Amino acid sequence: MSKLAPSILSADFAQLGDQVELISSAGADYVHIDVMDGHFVPNISFGAPVMKSLDKRNTAPYDVHLMIEDPDKYIPDFVTEKTDFITVHAEACSNMSYTLEHIRSYGVGSGLSIKPGTPVSEIESVLGLCDMVLVMSVEPGFGGQKFMPDMLEKIRQLCDIRAEQGYSYEIEIDGGVGLSNVDQVVAAGTDIIVAGSAVFGAPDIAERVREFLSAIR
Ligand code: DX5
Ligand code: ZN
Repeated sequence: MSKLAPSILSADFAQLGDQVELISSAGADYVHIDVMDGHFVPNISFGAPVMKSLDKRNTAPYDVHLMIEDPDKYIPDFVTEKTDFITVHAEACSNMSYTLEHIRSYGVGSGLSIKPGTPVSEIESVLGLCDMVLVMSVEPGFGGQKFMPDMLEKIRQLCDIRAEQGYSYEIEIDGGVGLSNVDQVVAAGTDIIVAGSAVFGAPDIAERVREFLSAIR
């Protein structure tokens, strides 16, 4: 059984609160919050004030994905009572262990993400400090891109390492997942599935969440 984390990057920002309540009441497990700084990735999305505008709404917990340089400086801004995970990019960290411990120091789950060109071996030494590992299945920066099936091998590797080492991180995939390929993503061993355009681009958003949930549970 896998969990669903719709990415609000593809939401209609003029109706953000209503759309996030809609996916949450339809059963989404997390709200995936894609933060982009225009430096680590060639696009700017939104920052902590936008996320915090949802705090009073009836939403699923936040799964924050920081695609930013110098993440340590901004981690505290994203800690709220609803923040379950904060994920940083391995490629943006000068000291991965320090940053993962920093996230945990707020009582929030520590996540580490790798871009398509970064192998699992680059993060193997710090997997014991991860509550989540996020495998990017597109180049980070934009929603609506094509899924890279080669990334499923990383999911299998992370499952094997977790079993061998007795680790307990969740494995998440992000980018290009839709109803047509979600079965193979689940079969590879993914615990949490991010979907942006496939959810918020649907004619009936709540119905699409339910379709995803019946495919992954
Ligand atoms: C990409 C973001 C993803 C993206 C997912 O940089 O991290 O979360 O918005 O969107 P889709 O599902 O449309 O690929
Ligand atoms: Zn993301």
